Amino acid sequence: MSTFDTPSRPIDFGRIESDELVALVRTAPKAELHIHIEGSLEPELIFDLAARNGVTLAYPSVQALRSAYAFKDLQSFLDVYYAGASVLLTEQDFHDMAWAYLKRAAAEGVVCAELFFDPQTHTQRGVPMGVVIQGLKRACDQAQQVWGLRAELILCFLRHLTEEAALQTLEEAMPYRDHFIGVGLDSSEVGHPPEKFARVFARAGELGLHRVAHAGEEGPAAYITAALDLLKAQRIDHGVRCTEDPDLVQRLVREGIPLTVCPLSNIKLCVFPSLAAHNLPGLLRAGLVVTVNSDDPAYFGGYLNENYTALLAAHPSLSAQHMWQLLRNSLMASFAPPALKLQWAQRLDEHFAAGARG
Ligand code: HPA
Ligand code: ZN
Repeated sequence: MSTFDTPSRPIDFGRIESDELVALVRTAPKAELHIHIEGSLEPELIFDLAARNGVTLAYPSVQALRSAYAFKDLQSFLDVYYAGASVLLTEQDFHDMAWAYLKRAAAEGVVCAELFFDPQTHTQRGVPMGVVIQGLKRACDQAQQVWGLRAELILCFLRHLTEEAALQTLEEAMPYRDHFIGVGLDSSEVGHPPEKFARVFARAGELGLHRVAHAGEEGPAAYITAALDLLKAQRIDHGVRCTEDPDLVQRLVREGIPLTVCPLSNIKLCVFPSLAAHNLPGLLRAGLVVTVNSDDPAYFGGYLNENYTALLAAHPSLSAQHMWQLLRNSLMASFAPPALKLQWAQRLDEHFAAGARG
């Protein structure tokens, strides 16, 4: 059974032909809620920044680096991802990385992007917190001015490090408190359960920050429950393993907790053997607030629209109404003010209504 929201105006979804649907989705207003900005570093930019900063890379060419993008699991990806991020040194570098992503996002119809960043990956190498945050923030402000794209930052803690390190990172970021809207939890999941970070998430809550956490990507459904109960997570990043606990699925539906699902990422990191085997359509049909996202687009073979397009190609049973619901979920699951979310949702409805008129 499917659960659908009601559009703000009648939309005859049945009139939208399947060959028109891809174009309609690609041009629709949408939000991206699960993108690691360091995962948007294209190999060409990695080489440009390495040359600019005199950093020597372990790979002789762009092609050699790209050919290393064959991953067997999350950890094999993270090793390459952290190596790529080592070229980022100056405020301009962080700006240029975020700007390159936001430019692509704007061209894909993204009206709201909530960007994850990993400060510890940089502060550990001696890059000051202010350099990281101010460079990223400058690009976000520019995106608002140039395209009206609302871009916000979410500070992620690396879960393979200690909670003390996370607490210290949060303190270091306090001079820039108004530059980010929330905290997240990423990096190696298995063996680093949410409970390890209960205190730092409680502190973030006291500071009025939003809270999200990666859970149920490679880790078990119990990590999702712990992220809800112990971290007070408002969204779950990935969450695809929730189906292993039917009670948890019911709870996620009841509480309307959004899942930021990343189809191409899940294939590249072998969470599912193929896109056709991905459980996203089942999650949607179960009434979960599923959203589509790119995760680390430079590494996983596609930005946001490629994720929507590949998903549709692999699951022809996904209807125009399903795609509308996914797009609407992305807008409504953002941390933007409710009035703005409604405006975006109305724009989405206009877009689909025009598509249905042909
Ligand atoms: N999972 C966990 N940590 C990450 C990811 C991911 O997909 N991408 C970047 N850091
Ligand atoms: Zn992620």
